[in-house]
Amino acid sequence: MALVSLEGVTRTYDLGEVRVNALSDVSLEVEKGAFAALVGPSGSGKTTALNLMGCLDKPSQGRVMVSGQDISALDRKQGALFRGEKLGFVFQDFNLLPVLTVFENVEYPLLMILDMPRDKRGPLVERVLEAVGMSNQSHKYPAQLSGGQKQRVAVARALVGKPELVLADEPTANLDGKTAQKVIELMKQMRDAFGTTFVFSTHDQRVMDQAEVLFYLEDGIFVGHSGRKGQVENA
Ligand SMILES: Nc1ncnc2c1ncn2[C@@H]1O[C@H](COP(=O)(O)OP(=O)(O)OP(=O)(O)O)[C@@H](O)[C@H]1O
Ligand SMILES: [Mg+2]
Repeated sequence: MALVSLEGVTRTYDLGEVRVNALSDVSLEVEKGAFAALVGPSGSGKTTALNLMGCLDKPSQGRVMVSGQDISALDRKQGALFRGEKLGFVFQDFNLLPVLTVFENVEYPLLMILDMPRDKRGPLVERVLEAVGMSNQSHKYPAQLSGGQKQRVAVARALVGKPELVLADEPTANLDGKTAQKVIELMKQMRDAFGTTFVFSTHDQRVMDQAEVLFYLEDGIFVGHSGRKGQVENA
């Protein structure tokens, strides 16, 4: 079953005289439980596609379905609720809040969106910090952590609300090769443990090698996919 589908999606940016098609008539499906990468040269539309899947942006044409819902039709408030309930995000630069501890950073989405009592939040935060191997660092501040540790915390934060889908835009771009690989391995373990679907973008060949399915974009055009869930086929 597809968890995410882009159906004839075009995203056009109007820059006065010039119009840029960041995505042109893209149709693709990501299966539930996939460990999928979006790949392609700089400017090919990877971030644009992730933003659309994350209900952070709307297509100019076409439809984006996530978990059976047409998210392109949601208004701002519905979109925010949808993100809170169903999605987790991991960013290139970790985006941890510097004044909060590791524990508090991971707890934050539960406070902001799910309005959950404290005695329920604690065990959830503990469990996910344990899963990413950071429970013994929970009182530290982000500035006291290495890049790889920060990204582990960011992965924990993305997972704490038990999302169906985690979207990660170049999650390893600021990490050295070995640490990058560890973070991707961790994400895959989380997929195995929680059944969460992961879609991430990357430029790094070693990270691509760990994806189970690759979606190729070139100049905003989806040129095919490869991997365990099918051979390359022209879209
Ligand atoms: N806010 C915007 N306004 C105008 N054009 C944009 C905007 N965002 C993206 N674009 C254009 O859309 C195209 C796709 O950009 P996008 O950021 O999705 O590429 P990308 O594959 O993520 O690239 P990178 O690997 O460099 O991150 C590019 O031509 C870019 O210049
Ligand atoms: Mg990008």
